[in-house]
Amino acid sequence: ELPEKVTIWEVGPRDGLQNESEVVPTAVKLEFVNRLNAAGLPVVETTSFVHPKWVPQLSDAAEVLDGLARKPGVRYPALVPNERGLERALSAGVEDVAVFASATESFAERNLNSSFDQQFAAFRPVVRKALEAGVRVRGYLSMVFGDPWEGQVSAERVVSAGRRLLEMGCDQISLGDTIGVATPGQVEAVLRAFRAADVPIGRIGVHFHDTYGQALANTYAALRMGVSTVDSSAGGLGGCPYAGSATGNLATEDLVWMLQGLGIEHGVDLKMLVDTSTWMGEQLGKPSPSPVVKALAR
Ligand code: HMG
Ligand code: MG
Repeated sequence: ELPEKVTIWEVGPRDGLQNESEVVPTAVKLEFVNRLNAAGLPVVETTSFVHPKWVPQLSDAAEVLDGLARKPGVRYPALVPNERGLERALSAGVEDVAVFASATESFAERNLNSSFDQQFAAFRPVVRKALEAGVRVRGYLSMVFGDPWEGQVSAERVVSAGRRLLEMGCDQISLGDTIGVATPGQVEAVLRAFRAADVPIGRIGVHFHDTYGQALANTYAALRMGVSTVDSSAGGLGGCPYAGSATGNLATEDLVWMLQGLGIEHGVDLKMLVDTSTWMGEQLGKPSPSPVVKALAR
């Protein structure tokens, strides 16, 4: 059963730009967000209040939020790794944050300098303080479908980690295929495991990277299971600096093309989006890898 409507959670300015070797000027980031707004995206994940030494590409997080021309009804989440990050995000006026945990021990260590259990203990006060400040919190879970150091990750482990994020107050979890290795049967199995554990499907989003070209097939499998929030990045920008083998996210244009064909409501103007990714490709000096961008760009 496919959903009637899908919320596209655009992560290009955050997941996309955090992985570019070049640091994009703040003004270009702001124009990028404005263009995504104009194209109708309901959620634009804007930046990240992580340690500037870890991700120098997003060290202008406060400036970006300060310069933002907020469009009514649009959400502009920012990532926060810890209490320090939340403080910085709150002073910048965020209304939406996301914490990010790993389903595996190895990636918790590399991405957060933390152990698997420690990361949840550290996030608990972050989530509590965010909620007290009236801020919504999303919880990412990385390495859900495979980990470069540990290999396979069991669905049982993923469900238990996901429930920890929901129980501490995240309103939604996003299941991350950080290195893009998932295939559709696996997606279905993980979602079935969440269903068996009584986690409402509405509280689950999916976040696929396209390393092995499976992101769209995986998304379709998730839609068939009733998922209605899908993460993607304009033009397929992205990756993760702490997981070397990862490439870009599912391209928003590829997602929109499929949703359009399936008759699923999404609210995005595909032409404006393609123009945006073409422009961004010029800024970065490399064209978008998205087949839909290539097919539609003039
Ligand atoms: P750490 O070195 O363990 O930090 O890093 P610490 O707590 O020991 O603090 C060391 C110093 O950093 C202190 O300063 C802190 O104040 C400062 P000092 O007292 O020495 O002067 N500090 C900060 N400064 C600014 N902002 C902060 C902050 N925190 C501490 N937030 C830390 C721990 C979590 C900070 C670090 O590991 C980090 O920043 N990690 C972020 C890594 C990252 O951004 N990864 C990419 C995002 S996740 C992702 O892409 C996956 C996703 O897309 C889903 C998927 O695909 O799976 C979401
Ligand atoms: Mg990602």
